[in-house]
Amino acid sequence: MPLGPQSTHPQVATAYRGRTVLVTGGAGCIGSNLCRALLEAGVQRLVVLDDLSAAEPWNLPEDERLTFLQGTILDPDLLQRAFAARPAFVFHLAAFFANQNSVEHPESDLQVNGLGTLRLLEAARAAGVERVVYASSGCSVYGSQAPLPLREDFVSLNLDTPYQITKLLGELYANFFHNYHGLPVVRARLFNVYGPGEVPGRYRNVIPNFIYWAQRGQPLPITGTGEETRDFTYVGDILEGLLRCGVLPGIAGQAINLASGVETRVLDLAQQVNALTGNRAGLRHTQRRRWDTHSRRRAAIDKARQLLGYQPRTDFATGLRHTLAWFQNHHKEIEQAARF
Ligand SMILES: NC(=O)c1ccc[n+]([C@@H]2O[C@H](COP(=O)([O-])OP(=O)(O)OC[C@H]3O[C@@H](n4cnc5c(N)ncnc54)[C@H](O)[C@@H]3O)[C@@H](O)[C@H]2O)c1
Repeated sequence: MPLGPQSTHPQVATAYRGRTVLVTGGAGCIGSNLCRALLEAGVQRLVVLDDLSAAEPWNLPEDERLTFLQGTILDPDLLQRAFAARPAFVFHLAAFFANQNSVEHPESDLQVNGLGTLRLLEAARAAGVERVVYASSGCSVYGSQAPLPLREDFVSLNLDTPYQITKLLGELYANFFHNYHGLPVVRARLFNVYGPGEVPGRYRNVIPNFIYWAQRGQPLPITGTGEETRDFTYVGDILEGLLRCGVLPGIAGQAINLASGVETRVLDLAQQVNALTGNRAGLRHTQRRRWDTHSRRRAAIDKARQLLGYQPRTDFATGLRHTLAWFQNHHKEIEQAARF
């Protein structure tokens, strides 16, 4: 299943070779793909810490270099076990995902994304790691009032869901650990990630859910006018950005957008999914979710270009085809695992 070219950056391509890496949330949609990329990059040992609350074990690659620790980042003993492997690099992806889930379960959201991130950062500081990459959310931290394209220096105090608040809180803790303790943390602000690895479900993103419904011949629900836009970013491009955030020098303390830099209308997405899957059931308009106040989203990616040499490579039509191919190859598992 093609995820796009692996790191084309010479320094990044060799930097993980023979090293130990910890990925929290490594069984998830982005995390499982990141684990594959790190194994391909030649890590000596990969420790994955995931409680499987929103992930399927079959999504994780099988490799003798991978140690899987099942449990929560809130558990200090488990964190100690994870850091006993002495990881040089930590990718912190574990999170209570996402907006609707957090509106329904705000305390769990705060526990995992707030306290969990604080504990993870404290453990990373104590272990003296070389770099922590915090998976922040560009769809969250800018709020709905920010001018387009969304730039890293914009700050909003008007966020719409507990998830958006706690993703920003994670960034604030990351800043504290960087500024006060000198922990080298990079805050990667991801935008509307899609691709192989995301099992559809009640709390999941629009693309896997559209594909799932389209494959069942159901009309695709448009929550709003459909004119809303998102900056959909293929997971292969996100991986390239994350790998660069993990090792390139001179970027500790920075927040960096990782996105496609392209706006796509939700209506166009729905039509493309219906065309790709041969779904003739069309669309149905349904009520906008009250928290969903972002009418347009498009990230500025010049900072990522400048600091990381980042360049998204996968156009939307190609990314959708890869995603659909993954659905077709995992039809049975996805049917069993989809949570609505
Ligand atoms: N997917 C996106 O569009 C997107 C956009 C912006 C930011 N992000 C961020 O990227 C990261 C990964 O997102 P994803 O799309 O892969 O989500 P995901 O839900 O697939 O992955 C999160 C993983 O964390 C695990 N997890 C949840 N609570 C945990 C806990 N208490 N302890 C240990 N593991 C726990 C889940 O089982 C899951 O495997 C998250 O931090 C998310 O906020 C994602």
